[in-house]
Amino acid sequence: MQEGQTDGGGRIGPILYLRGCDRERLRLAALVVTPEGEGTPPALETDAGPVSPERIWQCGGRDVLRYSFDLPATAGAAYRFDGESFEVAADLSGDLHIGFVSCNGQEHGDLSRPGDERNLMWRRLAERHRDRPLNLLLHGGDQLYADEVTEAHPLATGWPKAVPQNLREDTTAELSAALSEAFFERYTEQLAQPGFAWLAARVPSLAMWDDHDICDGWGSLKERKLDSPLGRALFAAARDHFLIFQFAAAPGEVPEICSDRSGQSLGWRVEIPGATLLAPDLRSERRPERVMGEAGWRAFRADLASVREGRVLLVSSVPALGPRLSIVERLMKLTPWMEKYEDDLRDQWQSRWHREEWRDFLRALVAVHERPGCRVSLLSGEIHLATRGTMKTAEGDIHQLVASGISHPAPPGAYATVLGVLARFGEAPLPRHPIRLHPLPGQGGVYAAERNFLRLERNADTWTAVWELEDSGPTAPMPL
Ligand SMILES: [Fe+2]
Repeated sequence: MQEGQTDGGGRIGPILYLRGCDRERLRLAALVVTPEGEGTPPALETDAGPVSPERIWQCGGRDVLRYSFDLPATAGAAYRFDGESFEVAADLSGDLHIGFVSCNGQEHGDLSRPGDERNLMWRRLAERHRDRPLNLLLHGGDQLYADEVTEAHPLATGWPKAVPQNLREDTTAELSAALSEAFFERYTEQLAQPGFAWLAARVPSLAMWDDHDICDGWGSLKERKLDSPLGRALFAAARDHFLIFQFAAAPGEVPEICSDRSGQSLGWRVEIPGATLLAPDLRSERRPERVMGEAGWRAFRADLASVREGRVLLVSSVPALGPRLSIVERLMKLTPWMEKYEDDLRDQWQSRWHREEWRDFLRALVAVHERPGCRVSLLSGEIHLATRGTMKTAEGDIHQLVASGISHPAPPGAYATVLGVLARFGEAPLPRHPIRLHPLPGQGGVYAAERNFLRLERNADTWTAVWELEDSGPTAPMPL
């Protein structure tokens, strides 16, 4: 199997997930989906011997298996699965090559697009891996566009406009089962996509969700919708499948990389030599008037407090630095037809509803960046455009690198131009820390309206970023 790691008989994977590492070992999990009752599960082997799988989920006649194993932290480490050998660039202690992607899909008809066209940027990332093996793949949100799962049950099709408020218990159970199956189907179809599947078997992933992994604007919608039986069933099914397919965890487990052991917030932290990878969960506890709840904030502050030195790569699924949107929000007359746009704006850190929380978030980042020996860099997706931003601090700029989406089509160029005009206003939610947005190296406008992904390199302690744009190609490396 050279491209999609699926054999046509319903088997998908292996898909690798990073669990942790030190200078000697890389700890991994591999997920494989097999037809139920296939017999003896396929063997996964390392030089240390065979690894037995655990079954973490079952659905629609298929088993989800997880293999937990270690590899030596060397450049040429490998594991074997079902007769095939997979090399993993498992040495994270020296030079590094990291991929960052987001927005892997589109709201409607995602998987009925011609595969070659849909997965073009995945194949390009796979080529880059062949040139220089990627050590890690970070996913910054919208790994799945779940929007169409609500077509799975007649009571859900009106979401989010028509939301039934009172449902009998057995109806709710039936609704939950239909949504759960629909999530399972979407994830399995998506994970088998060529390009992605080839990479995912060779490069360990770390992922944080955004709204579309649940539904458009989750958390920013009206509370009566979020708290309805349908809203709760939708979130529960999305969360179960986020755990299964983006962490290789059973729905009842809290992944070991998550600091909030109650599992209310699924923000994570992974230390690698010389760097900390961090991703707060901006969705699990989101409400119209807050981005994170108590559990999320406690975990996020603890994760930041544990950073001693080195590079902090912080994934903020929604950009933490952006143009001033509060003006637009104020100008909006909140007529009913503007409701959708109001929800969209509320979904951003810059919304006036989140202003105090945004300041707290930025203050926390500045405090880490200004610690001796620490540098914070932000990675974001969400906007289906590529751009970059800076926030001034006493110890130099904090950079934000936005790469989005790897398979979501770019919006019209006019949209990028309007956003570019807004970006000229600048923004300074914290005094003495102005935020500025900038064009990518070699680009004219602040926002590049092309499909894209980002590659980060660490060469002898020097970090650089390269955006790969669908038509314009790679940018010049930008020092961080
Ligand atoms: Fe997106």
